Amino acid sequence: MAVTIKSDREIELMRESGHLLARVQNGLADMVKAGMSTYEINAIGEKLIRDLGCIPSFLNYEGYPASICVSVNEEIVHGIPSEDKFIKDGDIVSLDAGLIYKGYHSDCARTLIIGDATEEARKLTEVTKQSFFEGIRAAKAGNHLYDISDAIDRYVTPFGYGIVEDMTGHGIGTSMHEDPMIPNYHQDEKGIYLQPGMTLAIEPMINAGSREIKISDNGWTVSSADGSLSAHYENTILITEGDPEILTMI
Ligand code: MF3
Ligand code: CO
Repeated sequence: MAVTIKSDREIELMRESGHLLARVQNGLADMVKAGMSTYEINAIGEKLIRDLGCIPSFLNYEGYPASICVSVNEEIVHGIPSEDKFIKDGDIVSLDAGLIYKGYHSDCARTLIIGDATEEARKLTEVTKQSFFEGIRAAKAGNHLYDISDAIDRYVTPFGYGIVEDMTGHGIGTSMHEDPMIPNYHQDEKGIYLQPGMTLAIEPMINAGSREIKISDNGWTVSSADGSLSAHYENTILITEGDPEILTMI
């Protein structure tokens, strides 16, 4: 499938979709506390999405059984909410959420620091977030797609962290996953030209230790193979003639 360029009308719908999802993530960040189960977090997130008149895009996606991916500590992405899994003080909790508004998808993830986390956990979380901002500095019309990948890699690698390679960012629009795939590490080619009207989900996933992953017996939850902490930060952005616009922040 070709990379889509959104019309002005579509951009406005993507913007509204993104702003609604930002409200969901902000609501979750205010409410998630030590002692909650990951199931409760999913229930709160799903209600926030539905109360805004939107559809949770993750629910039943390829059989995924929840609306919010809740990935704790060494879990990278796609953690399945469970009534038996409780958030503890000092955990880092990655919340990935997606919604559909008038047919347009937005997708956004945050790693939350719960209470009194270690310096290692806080630094990993901050570097992962900052790597997204380094990446989008390169997300300008006329640059190439893999300038984004390179910028993330150049920023993260000196910390000695493992950039997850098995999962990538992606185009987004009337589907959650559109072309192109957006790796978070150096590519030997340049990739396509970035053009105004492209909407992209950029989502570095960074392990404190090795980049290697393992997949749980549940078929979904992806964790660091060495058990090291992992963080995730994602926004849906719009390529413009000037600086990119972050659609999933308000
Ligand atoms: N946010 C994820 C992505 O960018 C999608 C979650 S997978 C799902 O690919 F199965 F939970 F939907
Ligand atoms: Co995504």
